Amino acid sequence: MLSNNLATIYHGNCLDLLPSVPDGTVDLIFADPPYNIGKSFGQFKDKWPSDQAYAEWCYSWLTLCLKKLKSTGSLYVMTSTQAMPYIDLWMRSQCTVQSRIVWHYDSSGVQARRYYGSMYEPILFCVKDPNSYTFNTDDIEVEARTGAVRKLIDYRKATPEPYKTTKVPGNVWYFPRVRYRMAEYEEHPSQKPEVLLERIIKASSNPGDLVLDPFAGTFTTCVVAQRLMRRTVGIEQEREYYKIGVRRLGLADELDGESLQPLDKSYVRKNGKQLPSGKDQGL
Ligand SMILES: C[S@@+](CC[C@H](N)C(=O)[O-])C[C@H]1O[C@@H](n2cnc3c(N)ncnc32)[C@H](O)[C@@H]1O
Repeated sequence: MLSNNLATIYHGNCLDLLPSVPDGTVDLIFADPPYNIGKSFGQFKDKWPSDQAYAEWCYSWLTLCLKKLKSTGSLYVMTSTQAMPYIDLWMRSQCTVQSRIVWHYDSSGVQARRYYGSMYEPILFCVKDPNSYTFNTDDIEVEARTGAVRKLIDYRKATPEPYKTTKVPGNVWYFPRVRYRMAEYEEHPSQKPEVLLERIIKASSNPGDLVLDPFAGTFTTCVVAQRLMRRTVGIEQEREYYKIGVRRLGLADELDGESLQPLDKSYVRKNGKQLPSGKDQGL
């Protein structure tokens, strides 16, 4: 475990570590678990014997997460498109599902030929109490694209005035995936973009609130939460990813006798020639 005034991060299994978080103290949880699709997270293979076994595992940590959440708290959970129906039905028996969000991205690397390639991941936005939860609309509004060249005027008003040009985003969010050349890129198979977490954290928490991520990976949630002056707790079971968190959050310069350095992205081709920096490799 390592911490500073805002962030505390743990190396270990969230099923073992979540019980140490006091009940009813967390304002926002973002849970991005393995998806049961066979990816490798270091030593860990993301594959369960059946859909049912995976769903049961999800219910066990979701139960713990809900215990830790305040009565006014929000929980966002991601999983694969095929597993989300299990989570959705179960969460509806425990709390209120406010939105089913689609994180849409361009998936140029996946070129399906005999089916429709996957270009989104689902996110469930749930609250304990639909009558009392944080939702900071002003902090997440986006430009409303009406297609009109001139500003539309609302003539129903006593004095006609232009319509508001911003709105709360709908439930389809376009954000590019994290690519090799992006400054935030880390060596991890399913790192989420900071902009995605920024929207979630700004909408569903306030400065000083506590934001928890039980499957921290590269600790994107904690990094963004810390930047936005929220308190944050992250848990990750793979040591190499935990080290990424230690570095990204500025918690230490070295760990296990190893100096924690950012990824060296000076790409060297097989012939030994270095690619000019900033040149897009389509990765
Ligand atoms: C989908 S990734 C999360 C990526 C993260 N949102 C990010 O932006 O980098 C899931 C992570 O959960 C970790 N993990 C798997 N099982 C875990 C467990 N039982 N407790 C804690 N972490 C676990 C994996 O090592 C992996 O890094």
